[in-house]
This record gives sequence, C-alpha cells and structure tokens, in this order.
Amino acid sequence: MECNSIGKKFVITCFGESHGKCVGVVIDGCPAGLALSEQEIQKELDKRIPHKPEIVSSRREKDVVEILSGTFNGFTTGSPICTLVWNKDVVPDEYDLIKDTPRPGHADYPARIKYGGFNDYRGGGRFSGRTTVAFVMAGAVAKKLLGLFGVEVLTYAIEIGKVKLRKAPSLEEIRGNTYKTAVRCPDLESAKGMEEAILKAKKEGDSVGGIVECIVSNVPVGVGEPLFDSLDADIAKMLFDVPAVKGVEFGVGFEAARSKGFENNDPYLIQGGKIVTLTNNAGGVLGGLSSGMPILVRVGLKPTPSISKDQKTVDLSKMEETPIRVKGRHDPCIVPKAVPVIESAVAIVLADHMLRGGLIPKALGGQK
Ligand SMILES: Cc1cc2nc3c(=O)[nH]c(=O)nc-3n(C[C@H](O)[C@H](O)[C@H](O)COP(=O)(O)O)c2cc1C
Repeated sequence: MECNSIGKKFVITCFGESHGKCVGVVIDGCPAGLALSEQEIQKELDKRIPHKPEIVSSRREKDVVEILSGTFNGFTTGSPICTLVWNKDVVPDEYDLIKDTPRPGHADYPARIKYGGFNDYRGGGRFSGRTTVAFVMAGAVAKKLLGLFGVEVLTYAIEIGKVKLRKAPSLEEIRGNTYKTAVRCPDLESAKGMEEAILKAKKEGDSVGGIVECIVSNVPVGVGEPLFDSLDADIAKMLFDVPAVKGVEFGVGFEAARSKGFENNDPYLIQGGKIVTLTNNAGGVLGGLSSGMPILVRVGLKPTPSISKDQKTVDLSKMEETPIRVKGRHDPCIVPKAVPVIESAVAIVLADHMLRGGLIPKALGGQK
C-alpha cells in the first residue's frame, strides 16, 4: 500500500492498523517555529470520543498522543513531526469470524483479494475507522497553522438517521454547543432526536448514517491550484479518503443542478471596502480557487456496515453462501466520531494549499 501520503507542501503519511501496535502520522513540511504541545493534539483527539458511551463502540481506550519527533522546547523544528497513539483495547479474536466471511458493506472482501490474504483483517485493519486517529493528529497541527492566518474551521452534524438540524446555527452556537452534545450537533433539541435515532437503531441491531457540515471562515481569495489541484477537488479527495464517506457537496451542491443561472449565481457587493457576495451558493470556491467567502462543504456518511442482524455473505474458504451476524464492538453511527475527522481532513488540505500558495504566517517569518 504505497498511497498513504497526501499533500505537496504539508505532507502527511498515515500508518497503523486497528489491532496493530499503534496508529500514527508523519507530518512533513510544517514550518519551524509553530508552538505545539502534546496537550494541544490531545485536546483534538479527545473530541473523537463522545461523552455518552452508549452511542459509540464499546471499544474503550484513552487515546494518548506521543510526539516522537519534530518539536523542540515546545516549537516545531521544521523536520518531520511523528505522532502516534498506542492501541490498548485490542480483542483480535472477536474478528476471527470475518477472516473468511467478509462483512457486507465493509472492505473485507476487496482487501482480501487485492492483498492476497496478507492484510491485517482484524477490526478492519487498515480500513478501520480507527486509522482516522492519524487524521485528527495531523489536523490538530494544520488547524494551529491555519489559526495563524485567522482561518477557522468549524464542523458539526446536521442530520443523523433522517433527523435533521431544525435551523441553520450561528457561528456562536456552533462554537459553543457542538461538543456539548454527544452527537456533535449545535442545536440541543435536534441533538436529542439524533441520539434517539442512534439508540433505536442500536437496539434493533442496526445502524444509521448522517450528514456533516463544515464551514471555513477567513480563507483569502485565490487559494487552490487549478487545473488538477483545484481546492474543491483536493478537499473532496481527502474527504472521500475518510472511511464511510459516500458524498461531498459544496455550497448548494446538487441543488445547483436544479436551479437557473440567475438563482444560482452569487452577486458581488462591496461591504466595508471588501468584495463579498450576496449569497454563497458556490460554497466559497469558484474555478477551483477560494472566493473569499466561507467554504461550505457537506459530507454524507453511510450507516456503519458492521451490524448484528442476519445478513448474507460467502464463506471464502468453502466457497459457499452462509449467513453472518457481525460480532465485535462497533459504532451504531459513525457521524459523532467523524465530525472532528472531517474537520481535520479539510484543515489538512487547506494548510497544504496555503503553504503551496507561498503564504507563510507572519508569526513564522512570512509576510502574510
Ligand atoms: C470514525 C469512524 C468510525 C468507524 N467505525 C466503524 C465501526 O465501528 N464498524 C464498522 O463496520 N465500520 C466503521 N467505520 C466505517 C468503515 O471503516 C468503512 O465503512 C469501511 O472501511 C469501508 O469503507 P467505505 O465505507 O468507505 O467503502 C468507521 C469509520 C469512521 C470514519
């Protein structure tokens, strides 16, 4: 598997498996002089685990980050930063069943064929949601870097199991409420309904999916490298690398296809000496370049594939059809854990593109 790196200037390489020794990331290209501590990365990692254990997998481990290289006296040195988390709560025997009987909806079958059975299948191995711990650690560094440019990335759940966020939240509500709720929804009332939807599905041995929204404010105009490294294309690529992501849309997304040009275009205005648009149907990206308006991206996540209902699969060792009821510890909904992962994915791509555009924060010796 040689495709475990992404980025051109802020390059991350992820490693580790669900039931291996650790999961980690090497970040190459982070400028020297960025204040960075384990505590700051830990704060982001802690967001992956909602405070209500009943709505997530019963796999329990405190993911404790270690920075192995790339910082000195509390600042980045300019050399590769390696951070990891040791896997502690590993019960590999639970997964013997899936060795020969691939779970419907998971990566077990194509992975076995592609890697000739040598892949670590335990807990989904390299295809486990656990590998997104690496995204969050790299995202913590990317977000610190973006913070020096005044760029803010906010992410929250807007739909779970068909329960929708009742009204668009303000930035204050997103900042203040999102992590108060276990489902990571900034509206407390909607959050209750979402939680209930998860618990109902769990009781039935089933799972639910949902939609996550991400808003990035204060991105300067012109970030992105068309043609093939357009900002929206690179963000979408990284988001599709998050397991269980099935759809990505910017601004009004697919609705644009159903509207007329006059409705869909965002008219320009001058506000306080700044060029802005009246609406933001484009979601902050035009021609693969940031438009200066907030980047607005929505991500659709499928329901967790591992469910404890009877389904059909094939026993590959005998080449015969067989029922499967998945055991092990699984999230009845991926959305709550995925919210900080999606935020990190977007931040990583933006940090890369800001550096590629020659933007170095003033605090790190740059002009901008
Ligand atoms: C944060 C996170 C947690 C996940 N937890 C589970 C889980 O508990 N059980 C499961 O079957 N899949 C889980 N997944 C989803 C699988 O990893 C994913 O569906 C699988 O690798 C197949 O990839 P695909 O859905 O992108 O096609 C999780 C994904 C994420 C991002």
